Amino acid sequence: MSLSFVAGPVLGIETSCDETAVAVVDGGVVIAEVIATQIPIHRRFGGVVPEVASRNHLLTILPVIEQTLTEANLVGTDLHGIAVTNRPGLIGALLVGVQTAKTLALVWNLPIIGVHHIHAHCTAAWLRAPDEAAPQIALPALALAVSGGHTSLLAMYGPTDLRPLGATLDDAAGEALDKFGKLLGLPYPAGPEIDHLAKQGDDTRFKFPDGMRGRDDLAMSFSGLKTAGRQRLEALCPNGAALDNQTRADLCASYQRAAVQQLVTTTMRAAERSGLRTIVVAGGVAANSVLRRELEQAAADRGLQCWLAPKRWCTDNGAMIAGLGSALLAAGGRDDATKLDAKPTAKRQPQRNTKTGVRS
Ligand code: KG4
Ligand code: ZN
Repeated sequence: MSLSFVAGPVLGIETSCDETAVAVVDGGVVIAEVIATQIPIHRRFGGVVPEVASRNHLLTILPVIEQTLTEANLVGTDLHGIAVTNRPGLIGALLVGVQTAKTLALVWNLPIIGVHHIHAHCTAAWLRAPDEAAPQIALPALALAVSGGHTSLLAMYGPTDLRPLGATLDDAAGEALDKFGKLLGLPYPAGPEIDHLAKQGDDTRFKFPDGMRGRDDLAMSFSGLKTAGRQRLEALCPNGAALDNQTRADLCASYQRAAVQQLVTTTMRAAERSGLRTIVVAGGVAANSVLRRELEQAAADRGLQCWLAPKRWCTDNGAMIAGLGSALLAAGGRDDATKLDAKPTAKRQPQRNTKTGVRS
């Protein structure tokens, strides 16, 4: 079994953090997308300022929707549904997308569906451009969703059934990269910069802890790595001394290697424990070149299928929201446009007991 999508255009709206992103997806094919990134706005603060993010979403959301529909050559009433990220995320930022989506759904008389941001990341592996063949990804699959806000392993049985297997106990992997990069003086978000600088570095020069030493469950931890990175940096440049370029590249390579090793080890352990033989990898950090290479290699060594989300749909985007929304609508999902709420934290989706029908 794989994911099924609605045959018809679905609009996806993403405003959970610092991208105002909108796309139209038709049967898994991304036919138009526009992303208004706020990264340059937040860069001067060294991270995302929630209230600044909501205000900028408000300014850009309608022009971004309009531009996406124009690129898709559609008007609102041509759509088969509207999907919007309603959880988890920054509450003010989420509200802008949710209120806009609810209004448009009522005005255009369309079904609306609220989408879980992390579940949507996991769906990105199924997306494709109009000239690409549909990836034949079998379900159930093991999903690694690794971003600036989340690092989770999930067993994915279908669009409505993603079960958490393990997650970071503290920082997300992307957050650990961004915070270390900030100490190195790299611009926000530092993940892509570290990826780039690490290519010139020696990843064996510095030893960094690889997370959950002594534990063999599916929990992860990146705060020890972050502290070790800060301490190493303080030892290398006492009194604010400058780092030479090679040392900086070696630090990036060694730090990145520790983060990647933990992600790969835990993902392979999850595959072994769950018996799932297909792995999908998504989220902003899934754009990392070393993580992509190492996961593919580790999966190949074990005879597992590894599907990496296309790089352009790893960081936050509207296509993944439209994609999961389309799959949820195809499975009969639908929310009430007068009642859909934004939820900053997302509790585990209630599971329906197949025998009793009771939600738990
Ligand atoms: O998925 P995303 O856009 O937002 C969240 O849902 O958090 O992920 C953003 C994160 C940031 O931490 C950023 O540094 C990281 O993804 N990132 C990368 C790369 N590209 C983006 N980390 C490592 N290597 C990359 N190439
Ligand atoms: Zn994200």
